[in-house]
Amino acid sequence: MHVSETVADIRQILDSHRKAGRAVGFVPTMGALHAGHLSLIEACRSANDLTVCSIFVNPTQFNNPDDLARYPRTLEEDLRMLDEAGCDLVFAPSVDEMYPTAPVLKLNFGELETVMEGAFRPGHFNGVGIVVSKLFHIVQPDRAYFGQKDLQQVAVVRRLIRDLGFPLELVRVPTLREADGLAMSSRNRNLSAEDRALAPQLHQALLIAREMLRSEDTVEAAKAAVTGHLHRFPAFRPDYFEVANAETLQPVGQTQAPGMTALCIAAFLGPVRLIDNLVF
Ligand code: PAJ
Repeated sequence: MHVSETVADIRQILDSHRKAGRAVGFVPTMGALHAGHLSLIEACRSANDLTVCSIFVNPTQFNNPDDLARYPRTLEEDLRMLDEAGCDLVFAPSVDEMYPTAPVLKLNFGELETVMEGAFRPGHFNGVGIVVSKLFHIVQPDRAYFGQKDLQQVAVVRRLIRDLGFPLELVRVPTLREADGLAMSSRNRNLSAEDRALAPQLHQALLIAREMLRSEDTVEAAKAAVTGHLHRFPAFRPDYFEVANAETLQPVGQTQAPGMTALCIAAFLGPVRLIDNLVF
């Protein structure tokens, strides 16, 4: 496995692979890797000749400086995991390498950023859009892999690909969970033991809502049940629970066509902000 720290180096390596006609798959990450990330690597490996992973904690997408400072950084362990998982090439640039000058460009994703993560984390999707665009230009993948865990991010990247005409296929990979249902996340390692024990209740709340909507309860009733469930655990400080269309992410008043209803939730546990969703 080769590790590149500069744009020039990875461009040169990728050029030779592309000339040889190899299909390039790309998995962008911010490191602190876990099995969820590795499931993206696995999906990528199964459909491409070359698997490229980037590790870059992107400062422009953090709306909260404490969150950026606390973000776990475990590069050595990440590289070991990627090597074992069969990743071919890692791009791990410094902040200066990615942003020789601070970008002034602003991306506006319209109604996609007026809801949920967009509303609660102002500027977040602008930062994601900028860094993903830069990474797409550098790697020029045939396919790019994103986790359903960040469903709104998938929608934002889908828009980016369409509006800017990136010639690549977007692949959405299902959320990998711990045995108790908690969605795997790099931020989970910042949870105290007490909060870690409570954290799966976020997924429980989603299961309750899905069950109710499947048995024809109203969206209002499902929302009340989720609020009621989290209230039983005062450590949670909920940001939102929404029933939304799985592609537009706009809130809806009733369930959508099969596979198109998304239940999305975000809450703080102590200093850690957790998000999760179910699509059905
Ligand atoms: P990061 O949070 O490191 O996540 C990298 C990728 O792994 C994302 O596509 C995310 O949705 C996916 N992922 C995280 N947890 C997962 C899980 N439990 N199951 C399946 N996939 C999971 O998302 C980012 O980084 C950044 O915003 C990035 C796209 C790299 C841009 O900076």
